[in-house]
Amino acid sequence: SQRKEIDDTLAAFALSPTQLQEVKAKMRVELERGLKKDSHPTASVKMLPTYVYRTPDGTERGKYLALDLGGTNFRVLVVKIRTGMRNSVRMYNKIYAIPLEIMQGTGEEYNMFTIIILYKLRNNTRLPLGFTFSFPCNQTGIDKGDLVCWTKGFKATECEGYDVVDMLREAIKRRNEFDLDIVAIVNDTVGTMMTCAYEDPKCQIGLIAGTGSNVCYMEEMKNIEFVEGDEGQMCVNTEWGGFGANDNIEDIRTRYDREVDGGSLNPGKQRFEKMTSGMYLGEIVRRILIDLTKHGLLFRGRITERLKTKGIFETKFLSQIESDRLALLQVRSILQHLGLDSTCDDSIIVKEVCGAVSRRAAQLCGAGMAAVVDKIRENRGLDNLEITVGVDGTLYKLHPHFSTILKDTVRELAPNCKVDFILSEDGSGKGAALITAVAQHEQFAWI
Ligand code: BG6
Ligand code: GLC
Repeated sequence: SQRKEIDDTLAAFALSPTQLQEVKAKMRVELERGLKKDSHPTASVKMLPTYVYRTPDGTERGKYLALDLGGTNFRVLVVKIRTGMRNSVRMYNKIYAIPLEIMQGTGEEYNMFTIIILYKLRNNTRLPLGFTFSFPCNQTGIDKGDLVCWTKGFKATECEGYDVVDMLREAIKRRNEFDLDIVAIVNDTVGTMMTCAYEDPKCQIGLIAGTGSNVCYMEEMKNIEFVEGDEGQMCVNTEWGGFGANDNIEDIRTRYDREVDGGSLNPGKQRFEKMTSGMYLGEIVRRILIDLTKHGLLFRGRITERLKTKGIFETKFLSQIESDRLALLQVRSILQHLGLDSTCDDSIIVKEVCGAVSRRAAQLCGAGMAAVVDKIRENRGLDNLEITVGVDGTLYKLHPHFSTILKDTVRELAPNCKVDFILSEDGSGKGAALITAVAQHEQFAWI
């Protein structure tokens, strides 16, 4: 029957407790592989060093410029940090949407875009600058980092393998525009962790569930084999979105995941990210809907041009469709808005599909997080761990069920850890400013 066909399709997205345990165990293996000298260069989870050695202690102060290049937006902030908790002041905060031509143009155009935005701030460009750059960077210092590869919607040419800070500095120098004092380059997970740690000292993990998916956490120096030194801790940017690159989660990937991967800017890469983050969930949903329509189970069997259009299901639509307060009539009106003519039955099915896809995403994130918190617990030789995760990202913030399912999964899979989640209200820019404050302080400490 029709019902059975739909159930069979969605069954591939229902992960059993055993499967989730396996994901946790495999993530743990990859976290370890990424930390070891021998396996680090080829690891699927890259475990990049960040040169951030501690979370804020409340003594940071000063005025900073923060650039924040996220998944879809470019933010600029001027942050003034006063001593004492909860006391930072944002003096300037502007958000720019990043045009597609910039995301997928040349490196030069991308740098120009940054410079034009900075130009508007010329009076403040002498401020020490913290640059949140939400892509994998191979850092060799707090202000040095080569772009490993673009992810998410970016594919600007002539950038991969080059130092992100150098590229920007040189582009500015070529134009003799102004001087910049770039002190720190920061992944968005790290900026988020620092923003939240300013409020809650137990925050030692940063999570982004947005356009992309990633986690950072405080690791013991002695475990990070490829960085000199054995004392204290360093924050590691896991880049867990790359999990699965060595074919170890093929058993849970569906044909829809493979289709989405095949049609993406970076086929074969970021397989975990493509199952868990906002940029791809809507695409998975769309592929399932096309398939169900082909089988005559939806939209009266008619595949419209609209349904064939990539990217129509943004995170905000998925979130709306899954909202419990929404009557089916409203779901239909959202579909209508997306150019999809639906019957009442159609709207029920679409909602089920969205639910299956986002539920799996939240569970996978939860399984990954369970691996991280248990690792930290074992690092510290504890039977029980209490820890806080600082979180940002549109999927986490907008989706009605994602955060609940994520938390439930962590509780089930890491029963010895009490994990709190707090939202970063200020984005990662404030965290980048705090890192800049610490880095400057340390610079001066050497003199
Ligand atoms: C923002 C942070 O609030 O969230 C960025 O300031 C981060 O640094 C972003 O990249 C992640 O969310 P999204 O949904 O835009 O990818
Ligand atoms: C992608 C990027 C990573 C970033 C994440 C969230 O996974 O590779 O660096 O943290 O998106 O924005």
